[in-house]
Amino acid sequence: MATPRETAGVPLQLSEIRAELDRTAAEIGVDSQKLQLTFERSDFNLRCEVEEVSDSLLIDTIAIAKRHLENWRIHTFEKSFLSIQALNDNLFATEGLLEKIKIRISGLYGEKTLEITKKGALVHAELSLMSALLRRALGRVSGKDVLSQLAEMGCHIYRPQDKIGGIAAFSRLTAKLRETVILPLKNPEVYDKIARETRSEFSLNRPRAVLFTGPPGTGKTTMARHVGKEAGLVVVHVPLENILSAYYGESTKRLAVIFDAATTTREPLILFLDEIDALAPSRNEKLFEASRRLLSVLLRKIDGLETQNNIITVGATNRPQDLDSALLSRFDTILEFNEPQQEDIQELIRFYAKQLSAGDNEKLAQQLSGLSVRAIRDVCLRAERQLAREQIEKSTTAVAAPTLEYYVRTLAEYRLGRPAD
Ligand SMILES: Nc1ncnc2c1ncn2[C@@H]1O[C@H](COP(=O)(O)OP(=O)(O)O)[C@@H](O)[C@H]1O
Ligand SMILES: [Mg+2]
Repeated sequence: MATPRETAGVPLQLSEIRAELDRTAAEIGVDSQKLQLTFERSDFNLRCEVEEVSDSLLIDTIAIAKRHLENWRIHTFEKSFLSIQALNDNLFATEGLLEKIKIRISGLYGEKTLEITKKGALVHAELSLMSALLRRALGRVSGKDVLSQLAEMGCHIYRPQDKIGGIAAFSRLTAKLRETVILPLKNPEVYDKIARETRSEFSLNRPRAVLFTGPPGTGKTTMARHVGKEAGLVVVHVPLENILSAYYGESTKRLAVIFDAATTTREPLILFLDEIDALAPSRNEKLFEASRRLLSVLLRKIDGLETQNNIITVGATNRPQDLDSALLSRFDTILEFNEPQQEDIQELIRFYAKQLSAGDNEKLAQQLSGLSVRAIRDVCLRAERQLAREQIEKSTTAVAAPTLEYYVRTLAEYRLGRPAD
């Protein structure tokens, strides 16, 4: 796995930038067409109209900028106008200054615009800065509630009323989830009443912290979102890997702030610490120190949540064996996600390739054995694209949807490691 420092400076693909901005727009309920994005000769430019250029927007912009990147120069800061530019980490280094990200907000001359420009490719920290700014400038939240503060800090907020795509509900796993997580979340009073009857001293018998473990692509992140939806609770998704890389050097403070913000809400929520293995101790000595500090903050904060009745922590990790034992011990329930079994695969095929007959479904399921959920999904989507290409190139529409043969062929290519098209 790449360390935070390694991923922090990696240039992003335009498609990744678009996807993140679309997601941000969807989360704050803004039409993504309103974000005018241009990328010409490696000059990046994002422009959008804002409702109002208030003093508080300008001040918040500086605060948000500072949270994401350490050093800035304020070119202009006056009523209804702000122009700032990032500087190098080393304040005395002058190279590349012209290429640093710039933010300009103007409420002058009838304008009401936010503009972010950068010469050259964007990196993670800059992208999450842009999302945070858009949330602040375009979000329709009055004042700043806790959830939008969390969103500004790089968390994703999933509300139970959000529309999300369906999933194949693997019966064994979902039964277990229902029993261990969803029922207690939905009916805490029943659990508490029983505990009051049984204990000489009342203590909670509901799970406080649940850990999802399992290889990548087995559906941990997807399931956490669905648990929230089923239980009717907001999910605060904390993508640790991204947050740690975006706030390299400040990540300890950042994590503490996120926890503190989360604990100030009164509404019940699921705090979902995704990719918690980003905190696993590193072999690199300098990073090791940093991750120890981070870990001790996390442990303290999770302990703090013990007394908080309205928050349940869900963690997800690909590598539970690498997690610190003190951290592992904080989770009272562990749910293992594995490569799907035959019945799950068949359910996935019914979900991603419903046109296949029961017989074909079974045949394909056998061949897909051993693949992760993500891989199975990928194979199904590739088969569709393959069929689409053929229809376009040969101008035929012999079949309306891929047949078993398409999936088998795509699977063979997939196993050979042919890159996706
Ligand atoms: N139960 C499911 N039904 C349908 N698709 C799923 C399901 N679980 C996961 N997926 C798909 O598989 C992909 C990988 O899942 P993800 O939750 O990201 O895995 P993980 O977090 O374990 O790495 C996702 O893009 C999602 O679309
Ligand atoms: Mg995941």
